[in-house]
Amino acid sequence: MPNVIVLGLQWGDEGKGKIVDVLSEKADVVARYQGGHNAGHTVVIKDEKFILHVIPSGILYKGKKCLIGNGVVVDPASLIGEINGLKKRGVEINSKNLFLSRNAHVIMPYHMALERENERLMGAKSIGTTGRGIGPAYCDKINRTGIRIADLLQPAFFKEKLKANLFNVNFLLENLYKTSGFSVGDIYNEYIGYADKLKEYVADTDIIINEAISRKGNILLEGAQGTLLDIDHGTYPYVTSSNPTAGGACTGLGIGPTKISRVLGVVKAYTTRVGAGPFPTEIKDAMGDAIREKGGEYGATTGRPRRCGWLDMVILRHSARINGLTGIAITKLDILDGLETIKICTSYKHNGKTYKEFPKELNIFQECEPVYEETKGWTESTIGIKDFEKLPDAAKAYVKKIENMLGVEAHIISTGQRRDELIQIQEQF
Ligand code: GDP
Ligand code: IMO
Ligand code: MG
Repeated sequence: MPNVIVLGLQWGDEGKGKIVDVLSEKADVVARYQGGHNAGHTVVIKDEKFILHVIPSGILYKGKKCLIGNGVVVDPASLIGEINGLKKRGVEINSKNLFLSRNAHVIMPYHMALERENERLMGAKSIGTTGRGIGPAYCDKINRTGIRIADLLQPAFFKEKLKANLFNVNFLLENLYKTSGFSVGDIYNEYIGYADKLKEYVADTDIIINEAISRKGNILLEGAQGTLLDIDHGTYPYVTSSNPTAGGACTGLGIGPTKISRVLGVVKAYTTRVGAGPFPTEIKDAMGDAIREKGGEYGATTGRPRRCGWLDMVILRHSARINGLTGIAITKLDILDGLETIKICTSYKHNGKTYKEFPKELNIFQECEPVYEETKGWTESTIGIKDFEKLPDAAKAYVKKIENMLGVEAHIISTGQRRDELIQIQEQF
């Protein structure tokens, strides 16, 4: 009966996909609440690897209702590709297990063009986005000019909105960015085709999820990205354009905050970040490269190398606070096997001043130096360990240190990519 949010506590790619997959076994409904196909959630079952972008990671189990909530921005071509790709691999997807919110906003080709041109114009100051049109799609949503899934199902209405939007967009593309604009007819025909392929999944997801909550089902709410990429609480402007944090689950699905029972934060045993922006604990030498190679730290969506660094308790304390965590899932502990010492950042220093909290001023944050505490590493392998007591003493001590510093208990420790490689300390359902 609990309703559990699973979200990232760092800059994304914490291993949310794996944790959601594991918890999905006992869930009735699995719902994505924000972001779009900028996300790449990896699930490894035996030797088979799946990367989910917009479809909830629960789809790999039979009989789960998977919802794409109103807070998600949807690129129809990408979603159709994802559905077809999964079906080809034997995953059952139909109108009984996949539901797409009528209110979700649609990513249009001009969103990608605007993002590309804007990033190009920003040059060295660019955000390093995934190039999926996410920011411009959310801009239109907030600007009240966005096109929603429901609009695609009403051709005349859709054409009228498209025409009005392209009037402005083409002016910008042609006159400011000096590139070509889009034709109403071309986009209209393309998107009406997508609407035809997606219409069987379109639903009132707010009603479905609230009915499931009333029936006391087990509900899993899957966040994308991570807390430090949150538009309000992240390292602005080097963030994504939605709320991956716990509040986003309520607005992105239409669930009242009184219905949330648990918030499980996923934290990688070290830190990674893709794209630009401050990252105080980034390791810029061979150690960073070694962690990247061992951890396979290359983007699941864009293939870009991820920047790697030590665990940062300053940002994690912030993440724990604003999400109201009830537990954490620590992932990729096995990647730290064999290190002589492991560093944990406990505060920052800037111009002789100590910061115990993450400074909100970007210019200060960018220049912060980490203050580290060193802890002993372990030589033994932790890969696939399923029992906490079997972990090397130093690994146990590392986990305990994280729990104590955060004031939140570890409910899951992941010790490998595969579904069965984990230690379950406390059940969520
Ligand atoms: P997400 O976006 O948060 O779902 O994370 P990604 O899928 O982008 O990146 C996490 C990567 O780490 C994926 O390749 C996972 O298969 C892998 N992974 C997750 N948990 C573990 C773990 O405990 N150990 C190891 N070695 N890999 C893991
Ligand atoms: P998952 O769900 C890691 C990053 C981009 C860029 C910034 C803005 O797999 O954890 P955007 O395209 O969203 O406008 O880019 O956010 N970013 C992610 N980084 N994991 C993700 O998703 C991300 N989604 C976006 O690299 O820095
Ligand atoms: Mg990812």
